[in-house]
Amino acid sequence: MPVITFANTKGGAGKTTAVLLLATELEQMGFKVTILDADPQYWISRWRDNSAGKTGIKVIPYVTQASLEKHIQEGRREADYVLIDLPGARTPLLAKAIGHSDHVLIPIQGCSMDAQGGAHVIELMQYLADRGNIHIPFSVVLTRVNSMVTTRALQTVKALLAERRVHVLNTPIIERSAFRDVFDCGGSLHTLATGRASNIDKARDNARAFADEVLMHEALRCRKLQLGRAASLQAVA
Ligand SMILES: Nc1ncnc2c1ncn2[C@@H]1O[C@H](COP(=O)(O)OP(=O)(O)OP(=O)(O)O)[C@@H](O)[C@H]1O
Ligand SMILES: [Mg+2]
Repeated sequence: MPVITFANTKGGAGKTTAVLLLATELEQMGFKVTILDADPQYWISRWRDNSAGKTGIKVIPYVTQASLEKHIQEGRREADYVLIDLPGARTPLLAKAIGHSDHVLIPIQGCSMDAQGGAHVIELMQYLADRGNIHIPFSVVLTRVNSMVTTRALQTVKALLAERRVHVLNTPIIERSAFRDVFDCGGSLHTLATGRASNIDKARDNARAFADEVLMHEALRCRKLQLGRAASLQAVA
């Protein structure tokens, strides 16, 4: 089953938040989800400890370069989706996780001019394609975007990505306090009490739209694979 890695070598880009939003939305839709927590800060594992009785998402803590492959194989067997949360650093784990992924999501802060950490990952993806003939689909997801105004920083980041012809998801992850509250309270946006956070409905809609878009790209990727296989079989016949 598909493996989706979240990568940006810059700390604080919004990787862990995006992993948690996608995982909890997929669970809400009825999918079985495993998260591999390879971030030494273990935010996802702490969230899982805080979520007793509120989620069935399986979290594997302390994932290292040595254990990654084994956990991916187990996850592929057991779950509908395997999500990998990486540290915000350039580590050998990054290339290994990317190499085993079906899709790489690169969260880049829409509120910050600094898209450098995302650019490192994009360069790595392009290197793998050019030198290793390894073509893994990747998309940027803009994070912490201001819901009220389109800032100059956001316009600059979008222009840079368009120049490099990088695919950007239509749905940005908006800056919302509810996304932070999920870490504090455990569970998901759906188990969070309505009065606990402001604009909870908008936060839920945002998370759902993000998950829907990721699923749509997964469905397209699978369709392309099937068409590719059918074409190869016809060529052989
Ligand atoms: N959309 C958002 N709305 C509100 N707060 C957010 C949002 N995204 C991230 N944050 C906050 O920004 C901080 C960094 O986010 P997060 O931990 O998701 O980034 P990260 O890329 O995983 O960081 P690291 O590289 O350190 O692992 C956290 O305090 C988180 O709660
Ligand atoms: Mg993190």
